[in-house]
Amino acid sequence: MVKRSWAEPYKIKSVELLKMTTKAEREAAIAEAGYNTFLLRSEDVYIDLLTDSGTSAMSDLQWAALMRGDEAYAGSRNFYELERTVQEHYGYRYLVPCHQGRGAENIMSQILIKKGDYIPGNMYFTTTRLHQELAGGEFVDVIIDEAHDPANEHPFKGNVDMAKMAALVDRVGADKVPYISLEGNVNMAGGQPFSMENLRQLRSFCDKYNILIMLDATRTVENAFFIQQREAGYANKTVKQILREICDMTEGCTMSAKKDSLVNIGGFFACNDETIYRKAINLVVVYEGLHTYGGMAGRDMEALAQGIRESVMDEHQKARIGQVHYLGHLLEKEGVPIVQPLGSHAIFLDAKRFLPHVDQDLYPAQALAAALYVDSGIRSMERGNVSAGRDPKTGQNRRPKLELVRLTIPRRVYTQAHMDVVAESVIEIYEKRNQIKGLRMIYEPEYLRFFQARFAPVDGVGE
Ligand code: F0G
Repeated sequence: MVKRSWAEPYKIKSVELLKMTTKAEREAAIAEAGYNTFLLRSEDVYIDLLTDSGTSAMSDLQWAALMRGDEAYAGSRNFYELERTVQEHYGYRYLVPCHQGRGAENIMSQILIKKGDYIPGNMYFTTTRLHQELAGGEFVDVIIDEAHDPANEHPFKGNVDMAKMAALVDRVGADKVPYISLEGNVNMAGGQPFSMENLRQLRSFCDKYNILIMLDATRTVENAFFIQQREAGYANKTVKQILREICDMTEGCTMSAKKDSLVNIGGFFACNDETIYRKAINLVVVYEGLHTYGGMAGRDMEALAQGIRESVMDEHQKARIGQVHYLGHLLEKEGVPIVQPLGSHAIFLDAKRFLPHVDQDLYPAQALAAALYVDSGIRSMERGNVSAGRDPKTGQNRRPKLELVRLTIPRRVYTQAHMDVVAESVIEIYEKRNQIKGLRMIYEPEYLRFFQARFAPVDGVGE
């Protein structure tokens, strides 16, 4: 059979010039940033793989949508267009716009969680868990064990372990479990999907115990693509149809539209229940803005509606995930330890196998991200012991099983040649890995410490 590539279903109309830096400049920049890639200035970065959040390139139709912004304080026509688009693609009856995902998480957590509740989830996400804790709840990880093993090749590592769900309900009682937080393409597990079959099992379990399923829809279109590619019976369904099938099995969602939906800012909470909706629009005016804009400009809502329509196109997902896997295959070929199977939004370096000589409390993933930046100006993100934070009960580092560096690919931004450069740099660092030492944390913020923590090399240089 003739090979057919995943090439992009668009061409480039405008480009952004990048600054090239020297190694000496990068060494100074990372020391200045306390060895934390979040604290680098973006102009000192060549290829920015910090995150796929808010970093997508918008299409010409999205830029045109900005000009259709109706910046009325109340009842903007862009709100109604967004509402109609979310209803069509995600299927929920009620839409509450929010400035981004964590705004929606705050509102949902405050409405659904009472002090002493337990919130199961298919692995934690940093902001999601924090809002659950701030609302008085305790997060309980119910993802399948395979998700915590970076080498395990299970095709649906985002699945919920139904035995763990049942054990939780047995232990604390169903009335202490208001909902399960179900994330599409689980970010912290490496961008791993759940299967439709698993969702069906979860649905019947939750019906029995009267537990809601609230979706973290942030990367659920990408999850739908994996279902189409991997799950029996879905090869002939469109990504758009599969997304609806997922959402129709859940009661509502929080959404960071900065990922799947191809916009630079925005998010929403959506649900089917009128009572929950009434509470949400009451809280949204306290924290975000009036319920017909929720922290977004009218133009942003219009660009988001267009972004949602583009995100469900099969050929978009094929190229988007095709590019991520192109990078993954280059690294696999050279034996670089990465999370398997390859995820949707990023390639994750397995820092435990990459730097086995660095103890986890010397933050190997943080050190690896800093080394990669110094080598080539590529910015990545730690997703390990720093991100996991401390256990609120013991005060100790959580030392998660997964100690990862995320090379996150923005949507429609970089070229295949950029991916080649990234792979070359990672491979070179892998060859020199024995020279990389750990880091000590010298400043630790109270919440979400990974964003602003500062580090120094263990040998004392750089303090
Ligand atoms: N849920 C998931 C699964 C996320 O990945 C994020 C953000 C959020 C919720 C919060 O959304 O940033 O719009 O407030 N993830 C970004 C990342 C920050 O880099 O993975 P937000």
